[in-house]
Amino acid sequence: MLPSVEASSCATDDKTQVVLDALAKAFAEPFALVNTDSGDLVYFDHEALSCDLYNRLELLVEVGRRGTPEIIEDVSPLTMLAIPLRCLGVGANLVAVGIFVTQQVTQEEEMAAAARAFGIDVRRALRWSAGRTVWPPDVLLRVAGSALENLTLRQQTSRLETEVAESNAHTEEIYAELDLLHRLTGQLRLSECEQELWRNALGWLASTIPAQCLGIVLRGTIDGKVSDDNLAEWDVFTEGVCPVERDELCELIRRFGPIPLSEPVLLNRAETTLPTWHCPTIRELVCVPIEGSKQPRGWLVALNHHGTTQASFGEFGSVEIQLLRSVGTILGIHNSNLGLYQEQSQLFASSVQALTSAIDAKDRYTSGHSNRVAFFSVSLAERLGLSKADRDTIYLAGLLHDIGKIGIDDQVLNKPGELTAEEFEQIKLHPQLGYEILKGVRQLDKVLPMVLHHHEAWDGSGYPHGLKKTETPRMARIMAVADAYDAMSSDRPYRKGMPDEKLDEIFRAGAGTQWDPDVVDAFFEIRNEIRQTAQVSSCQASLEYEDALS
Ligand SMILES: [Fe+2]
Ligand SMILES: [Fe+2]
Repeated sequence: MLPSVEASSCATDDKTQVVLDALAKAFAEPFALVNTDSGDLVYFDHEALSCDLYNRLELLVEVGRRGTPEIIEDVSPLTMLAIPLRCLGVGANLVAVGIFVTQQVTQEEEMAAAARAFGIDVRRALRWSAGRTVWPPDVLLRVAGSALENLTLRQQTSRLETEVAESNAHTEEIYAELDLLHRLTGQLRLSECEQELWRNALGWLASTIPAQCLGIVLRGTIDGKVSDDNLAEWDVFTEGVCPVERDELCELIRRFGPIPLSEPVLLNRAETTLPTWHCPTIRELVCVPIEGSKQPRGWLVALNHHGTTQASFGEFGSVEIQLLRSVGTILGIHNSNLGLYQEQSQLFASSVQALTSAIDAKDRYTSGHSNRVAFFSVSLAERLGLSKADRDTIYLAGLLHDIGKIGIDDQVLNKPGELTAEEFEQIKLHPQLGYEILKGVRQLDKVLPMVLHHHEAWDGSGYPHGLKKTETPRMARIMAVADAYDAMSSDRPYRKGMPDEKLDEIFRAGAGTQWDPDVVDAFFEIRNEIRQTAQVSSCQASLEYEDALS
């Protein structure tokens, strides 16, 4: 309960101190603070007059309830002002109480009578009142009202500032997450194999998550099917210094719950300092699933927060869980897509190989021709500085360039010896036929110009369109040289392949008439290499460029 004797100043919290400072600034007089719930005097300035608040507690409770400043007692020349502070969020029903002089003291008896009415020591009241500011009661109430308003405004401003700061911090977190996800999704297109995908993801995560180690643990696969039986089959990728061995990490995840674990796990020191925790080198941990089509493909883990020092501990929380979950979902989807893409690529490669075999089967004299033309074209393209993407395209085109022969009469195609003019006209249809066969296949769009134009000539005497010089696409001009070389150098049942000297002579003569002279130059530069390759089986040559099909 309230003491009616002098109390010394006591400590206040920050919010209450702000209120006391504001009141001191407005009135230049000390105040006492009363908690009207408990009846305690929570603050008393030793410069203030000690009065009897105990008998005025009921009045103070009423002021606190009504919520506006009030004069609760006025015995001229002293008055008692009470200011309720509850609306300022100071944490309790506090009321500030101050004693003021309301008129000049001309007679000591008046002051003595007022002091006795307030329960104040008379001699102290007389000393205290000398030179004090005179406050008319109505002015006191106006100043108290505006002080409360100011404090309320300051409090609202402070709350808004806090909200803005929190919002900024949250925005920064969201930005970091979006930035990572943006980089991740942007780079995913470049990941053509799983390992590259996992390693890239860990590298990007390491720049965002404050962890000693980031890891990806993938469930094992046996014959293409996910299996959890043998931890040795699980794959582990890490970035940073992993605080546990590979096997220990797998075992740890298995202990978190029935595999496949599909819910996030968050452990901080509250858990890892328990005697039951068996992995002393791990202090903090987040583990989230990498979503698969039906079950998790594996897990993303962050181990040991970077922010841990001797003085304080960093902890993982909802921010890290959310970020890892987002990444886990994206990786899971991309991984599923990658599987489908690889399946599709294999199907595509098998289809192209089947078509190539069909051409070779149809034209029994030129067995392996398609594979060799593909490989020679790539060698020439490389010498001429074409990009890897273009070299892949020309390889594919080489395999398929004579696909139109499927539509040519077997008798004509396999006729030993010279062809009649009419038969040759039939053979000349194969580029256009090939174009018609392949034009509906979207993945083969880029090879169509080579299929259609590999028999054009530099001087315009070729077929089917009689294009001249650079009117013919460059890759088709390259293929024309590769095609001619294989046709002339290969043995046929009815004739031997041409000797090298004869071939060289033909190419020299045809540069600038039959073929693009630059391509013929490139041919002479790598002629020996091409001749050596021609000795190797076409199968080996094709294997080297098989990725062009995927
Ligand atoms: Fe051809
Ligand atoms: Fe050909």
